Amino acid sequence: AAPAAVIVAIDGPSGTGKSSTSKAVAAQLGLNYLDTGAQYRAITWWMVNNGIDIADAAAIAAVAEKPEIISGTDPSGPTITVDGTDVAGPIRTQEVTSKVSAVSAVPEVRTRITELQRSIARGAAGGIVVEGRDIGTTVLPDADLKIFLTASPEARAARRSGELKGTDVNATREALIKRDAADSGRKTSPLAKAGDAVEVDTTELTLQQVIECVVTLVEEKRAAA
Ligand code: DC
Repeated sequence: AAPAAVIVAIDGPSGTGKSSTSKAVAAQLGLNYLDTGAQYRAITWWMVNNGIDIADAAAIAAVAEKPEIISGTDPSGPTITVDGTDVAGPIRTQEVTSKVSAVSAVPEVRTRITELQRSIARGAAGGIVVEGRDIGTTVLPDADLKIFLTASPEARAARRSGELKGTDVNATREALIKRDAADSGRKTSPLAKAGDAVEVDTTELTLQQVIECVVTLVEEKRAAA
């Protein structure tokens, strides 16, 4: 018989290998994959594109329901569109990255995106790996397995600068620390480890080792179910 649908929540700050790990684990185990950061980036991209002042939380809240955001959950080729436009590239710009923490701190934005995430997870045949900041604590508190990835600030900055070629490690480190502080410090659903999450410190691990560790944890959960 096919194994029961399994819901895996993977949270942690940026630069811990969250996306690469989540995608690879989903692909290996035949699960769907959802990048919730991409959804917050997509709504931020729409706000910027529509001239919304991102310092004005009330203005953001007033239009939070407007953009239609659709996420494709195949781990071998995840997609994201806003009102039918493919935004996979534009959501990774420095401009969106620098504004996403402010937009994602607005409660109306979080309510909207959280509902979207829950409906995707509920509808995911066979199960899903959902990565983000508040998946285990708020979005899917009943997830079958919760993982919290960490790494030293130095390791996280080095990984991020490796991804963004030609950028200065120190500048990346400062920007990353600032964004994590904003994400951890916000009132509504901050970046946090759930009480029942398994913490994996990836500082000294290769990506392959982190993937193997998480795959093993999922398999143990499935065997115990
Ligand atoms: O994972 P990422 O760097 O693409 O996420 C971009 C931003 O989105 C991050 O700085 C905080 C926000 N975010 C969030 O508030 N909640 C989530 N579940 C995922 C991301």
